[in-house]
Amino acid sequence: MMTFKQIITVLVILLAIVPAQASGTDGHRANYQVIPLPGAIHGIKSADFALTQQRLINYPTGNRDMERNAAMLGQYIEEMTGMHLSIRPTRSTREIADNVSLLLDDKIKGEEGYRITVTARSVEIAGRTPAGVFQGIQVLRKSLPVGHAAIVHLPAAQIEGEPRFGYRGMHLDCVRHFFSTEAVKRYIDIMALHGMNRLHWHLTDDQGWRVEIKKYPRLTEVGGWRNGTTLGHNSPVNDGIRYGGYYSQEEIRDIVRYAADRYITIIPEIDMPGHMVAAMAAYPELGCTGGPYEVWQRWGVTDDILCLGKDNTLRFVEDVLAEVAQLFPGEMIHIGGDESPRVRWEHCPRCQQRIRELGIKAEGNQSAEALLQGYLTTHVQQFLSGYGKRIIGWDELLGCKVDTTATIMSWRGPEPGAQGAQLGHDVVMTPVDPLYFDYYQTSSTWNEPQAFGGCNTLKKVYDFEPVADKLPADKRHHILGAQANVWTEYITCEPQIQYQVLPRMAALAEVLWLEPQEKNYQDFLERLPRLAQIYQLYNWTYRAKSLIPEDENKD
Ligand code: ACM
Ligand code: ZN
Repeated sequence: MMTFKQIITVLVILLAIVPAQASGTDGHRANYQVIPLPGAIHGIKSADFALTQQRLINYPTGNRDMERNAAMLGQYIEEMTGMHLSIRPTRSTREIADNVSLLLDDKIKGEEGYRITVTARSVEIAGRTPAGVFQGIQVLRKSLPVGHAAIVHLPAAQIEGEPRFGYRGMHLDCVRHFFSTEAVKRYIDIMALHGMNRLHWHLTDDQGWRVEIKKYPRLTEVGGWRNGTTLGHNSPVNDGIRYGGYYSQEEIRDIVRYAADRYITIIPEIDMPGHMVAAMAAYPELGCTGGPYEVWQRWGVTDDILCLGKDNTLRFVEDVLAEVAQLFPGEMIHIGGDESPRVRWEHCPRCQQRIRELGIKAEGNQSAEALLQGYLTTHVQQFLSGYGKRIIGWDELLGCKVDTTATIMSWRGPEPGAQGAQLGHDVVMTPVDPLYFDYYQTSSTWNEPQAFGGCNTLKKVYDFEPVADKLPADKRHHILGAQANVWTEYITCEPQIQYQVLPRMAALAEVLWLEPQEKNYQDFLERLPRLAQIYQLYNWTYRAKSLIPEDENKD
């Protein structure tokens, strides 16, 4: 005989299990209040659409992009609900009755705009482009309840959306710590769920060279590995463990394709002329002193940068970028340009000779050496234009006299971005405060994984406005969008990356999709737990505490 206590225990366990298994009940209703919030959700007078496994997912015959979209929607529905829907090419709109259909409609506004129409008879996800349809698919996916179901009721409605900004970025530093191709793909999955469309992939730095370059094999053979890593924030203790890795060109092509299938463009960064010690360890002749150099084991900024007095250095840069340009089909290549001390150039006879040959003279507060960096940047800009590419670089480029075809990434606050836009540069806003996601998410850091510092809370990210008030109307179009940066000095494993970006990516998504007057933090917080259920579904790590309103979020 069971004791009373045992009976109660069994009852409690049963009660906990039953709701999770009860499938096909009225509890399984879609909710279109997702993140980022659609621009409009209009109810339609019609009964619900009953989504079951018997429905098909239609796509226009012969359209490979739409076929992939259909397969992806099928996969998402299966992951969310356990229902497996088949996909089918269709020739006529008559076939859309009773099913879920993906359609192209050139009346829809915006390259990535979408419209979802749900009636009792059908669900249509339309976009002007397959990229727009993909965004609509993300919305439908997030609307579904998580958990096995035999039927999900979709309330009749028309749902529309279009992103406010064309550049919706996330950055990932795979140098300071190296992450597997699978981890990078999961990062891309996370971005897709949040409606992001640019991955800025930081591939080279002082602490490692992570992209295979066929012409310079030592870059990865030697530059891909360091003989130890400082513990913590440049402590005197070094772990002494050899650490490294790199992506082969084949792996890179595979990741580029994986991202493109999710309408995400990868922007590779080859940082120059600073942050180049890993390359100089492999090819010491690239530096002013000739080395020897070691792949760096500490964090920060070193005085050793590329020597621009040597023709070989420029040839090296061109050769590397030629291979990079062919690996990454996107229009932009990031050439860094940040944190380049010029002390070596000041004392290098070759660099000084180059300055004289080029007739470079200091101008105003721009030293001759600053303008030498401008010379490199312009050289690279012209070289890459031969490959149909444009350069993007950190805001230090504004101090190097580069022309306005260079896009500026504003990281030292929002001011350089506003200044760049005034001058006619396109700009991506990524100010440390609040868009460095390697910063802490709370002021109460004692129980947080080690971070760079700072305090960029979910609310600060949500409240960020990419377009400065003072920017005149005719310059506002230069603000292409914004991006969060994830430097990985202190981020050593994939769950830690996810913890740093989730749920802050959700707040950034709403910054980038909604007009300022459409944003509402309280409402966002109410929608967030449903998004977090999807994080849980995929076993993504996230900062659950950020779901609690801030004043209750103190330790
Ligand atoms: C940067 O954070 N050094 C761009
Ligand atoms: Zn030099």
